[in-house]
Amino acid sequence: RPRVLSGIQPTADSFHLGNYLGALRQWVTLQETHDAFYCVVDLHAITVPTEAAALRRRTRVAAAQLFAAGLDPERSTVFVQSHVREHTELAWVLNCLTGMGEAARMTQFKDKSAKFGESAASVGLFTYPILQAADILLYQANSVPVGADQKQHLELTRDLAQRFNHRYGDTFTLPAPHILKEVEKITDLQEPTAKMSKSSSSPAGILDVLEQPGPLRKKVMRAVTDTGSEVVFDEANKPGISNLLRIHSALTGTSIAELVARFDGQGYGTFKKEVAEAVVETFTPIRERTEKLLSDETELDRLLAIGAGRARDVAQRTMVQVRDRVGFLPTS
Ligand code: TYM
Repeated sequence: RPRVLSGIQPTADSFHLGNYLGALRQWVTLQETHDAFYCVVDLHAITVPTEAAALRRRTRVAAAQLFAAGLDPERSTVFVQSHVREHTELAWVLNCLTGMGEAARMTQFKDKSAKFGESAASVGLFTYPILQAADILLYQANSVPVGADQKQHLELTRDLAQRFNHRYGDTFTLPAPHILKEVEKITDLQEPTAKMSKSSSSPAGILDVLEQPGPLRKKVMRAVTDTGSEVVFDEANKPGISNLLRIHSALTGTSIAELVARFDGQGYGTFKKEVAEAVVETFTPIRERTEKLLSDETELDRLLAIGAGRARDVAQRTMVQVRDRVGFLPTS
């Protein structure tokens, strides 16, 4: 079975529609055909200032949402990144293979550090993509399901894998991004040319998985739409309606062409109501299952411990090879 790995940050109290459509839903599908590893990347979360209590809470909420969205602990290895020490160890080795200029080209660092001012941003934020490369390479993943914003990090990962293999001998599998064009970038409801984002969208621009039906409906109804009144797919002139069409289509399995034909002459209101219902219908069962999972932390932590054990087995095997190839002396 080919192997798949992906990760998600516990940086908010809920995942949002972009995370769900761009990544999570593919994670669930891929567990049927792949040997699947999915991690909550708490080490990545501390690259920006984070309170300990919030991190602890959000890591559990994130894990609960993963199971609630359909990851099966029997089929998928779901774990917390910091539980497997090999991630930081391999990240160090890869740090030493990465050029300063190469790291400085990462656009996500530029975007995120702009908020603090580049010199106030942490070194951890700067080397963030190298830790991500370690996450992927440790598991010898063939495929990495992500949204479009992760493309550049995946390219760096491949470059680092190739460099290591070239310098030290064949060790790492070259991973390919698994990106679904139709949902690779879900945009902000209030700013439909920007991606929906935990860190930069306003609350009105984001649809949270754990949000109640009332606010979800209100946000969809108030989503910025474009001039005119026709429901047509036109990315350049109608980014708001195009985004809602993409969302409707992804959630209901109806093609965009079919939706455009169906809503011909009906105006935005009727269309938005249907989008809202599709979102509510998708999120409500996930929210309810998440709440249930969070009501038994002992059980949730037990599932994560099982995941960590399975992840560690694979990660340790890779690191034995890496240590040897790099020239570190064996410990005994
Ligand atoms: P994160 O936590 O920001 O987002 C998790 C996943 O959601 C996708 N995504 C979106 N997809 C479509 N439209 C959007 N508006 C949208 N917003 C987010 C992201 O592309 C991502 O797939 N660096 C990663 C986490 C990570 C990782 C890894 C991923 C750490 N190690 C190893 C893959 C493999 C991140 O910040 O994702």
